[in-house]
Amino acid sequence: MKKKIQNRILVADDGEVNRELLRSMLEDDYIVEMAEDGEQALKKLEKYLDESVALLLDLHMPKLDGYAVIARMKEKGWMSKIPVLIISGEGAAEVENKCFELGALDFIRKPFNTYVVKNRIRNTVELFVYKNQLEQEVERQTKALKKQKQIIDIQAERLKKENSFNNLMMQYRCAIMEVETKFKVLNEEFSQEYNRNPFESMSTRLKSPESIFEKLLRKGYPISVKNVEKHLADVAGVRVICSFPDDIYRLAEMISNQDDIIVLEEKDYIKNPKENGYRSLHLILDIPIFMSNEKKYMKVEVQFRTIAMDFWASLEHKLKYKKNVKNAEEIVAQLKECAESIGSLDYRMMKIRDKIDSDRCEK
Ligand code: GTP
Ligand code: MG
Repeated sequence: MKKKIQNRILVADDGEVNRELLRSMLEDDYIVEMAEDGEQALKKLEKYLDESVALLLDLHMPKLDGYAVIARMKEKGWMSKIPVLIISGEGAAEVENKCFELGALDFIRKPFNTYVVKNRIRNTVELFVYKNQLEQEVERQTKALKKQKQIIDIQAERLKKENSFNNLMMQYRCAIMEVETKFKVLNEEFSQEYNRNPFESMSTRLKSPESIFEKLLRKGYPISVKNVEKHLADVAGVRVICSFPDDIYRLAEMISNQDDIIVLEEKDYIKNPKENGYRSLHLILDIPIFMSNEKKYMKVEVQFRTIAMDFWASLEHKLKYKKNVKNAEEIVAQLKECAESIGSLDYRMMKIRDKIDSDRCEK
């Protein structure tokens, strides 16, 4: 559809002097359409809505007053199509507030000053256009995301039925079991030898097909079983929660030194926390699994955290997936502050533990 040229401005005011005054101010820039009452205003709107940049609306008018005009405009869905600026002699702040609450974008007091009127119309129109463009862009992106999600879901469903994909997932599950067993073995040994546990708890997760495909697409790789293996390192995940930071490093060293394991990557977000405050030690391990007729290396992502870091990460994770959070910036700053406190608290707790341990040794 061809877009109409927007070169009109509508003035609705029952005072002839006011109308003429506004006409003389605006006629150099716009075709000025006049209405003497609310009914005429609605008729002109109906006719010129697509060609107009703004409606200047008086409050007190015969037949339909300004409030009634706005009410009708709302019913017809016109308030999102044209900015409404109230022109009124009303001095009371409540009246002005009411107009803003009803959806007017500006309130210009009579008597008029040419400079003020022109500038305020220009600013309001520009803001309105900008806001509409933003809304359209958001709508477009939301639609695109929905479509992408549908595509992912369809491809996910398709691949979920494929043998090669299910085999790969089975192999990742086996790799998780191998890593899990290694940590359990270390736990057994520590309990027996030193009467303490090197970690508090452990959890595992296999990435869902939908997240796998979403991540592949995000990274720009076509969806295929080969690309999952080649480009994703976190399909198999193990999270180990320790009491103290030194337990983390000791465990990480012990597992890395096992001669069947290859450490492909290490990211130390404890020594170098992320900008948001995130702290954890990540290892990407390559670990062999033994099938009936082959030995195959599989990637497993291991995240080590203290209890306090885990508490922080789960709360921060919620923020990431929540839309339209109020005061998001402040929450981000508070989270960062908490992460720093947690970082120093973990080390203080470690020192206390050391003191308790050394007292015990002396006795
Ligand atoms: P992802 O694409 O998120 O996997 O990041 P990456 O491949 O660059 O690896 P990274 O080591 O940064 O993150 C791996 C995983 O650690 C993530 O999938 C999360 O589970 C966790 N993680 C990393 N950064 C954060 C963070 O800032 N907050 C929280 N809550 N978790 C994080
Ligand atoms: Mg990840």
